[in-house]
Amino acid sequence: MPSSLPSTPAAAPRREPQFMRVAETQRAPLRFFLDGHEVTALQGDTLLTAVLMQQRRVRDSEFSGAPRAGFCLIGACQDCWMRTEDGRRLRACSTLVTEGMRVLTRFADASAGQGEAR
Ligand code: FES
Repeated sequence: MPSSLPSTPAAAPRREPQFMRVAETQRAPLRFFLDGHEVTALQGDTLLTAVLMQQRRVRDSEFSGAPRAGFCLIGACQDCWMRTEDGRRLRACSTLVTEGMRVLTRFADASAGQGEAR
């Protein structure tokens, strides 16, 4: 049965952001890839800011599977670890997002806790 709903493009899934930018909106834009979808950020954004401008989580808890969005925002709590598509670990709150960066919020690898850290 044909749908009467308007068609939607096959783009990134609709996400509800955790953060809303209210200042420094004139910085140069850049693009990065979040779970394979191209999104935008501004030069000088931390990875945590860039991701939470797109959605409400940066990863899932390795213990409960619950969504996590960082806690301290200053590199102390270890709640914001993400991975690049090539497997490197990044602390999102202390890593600047860069042009073309490719990061994942979900990873099945049980070896979380190993690898390169910043
Ligand atoms: S949010 Fe606490 S270490 Fe990144």
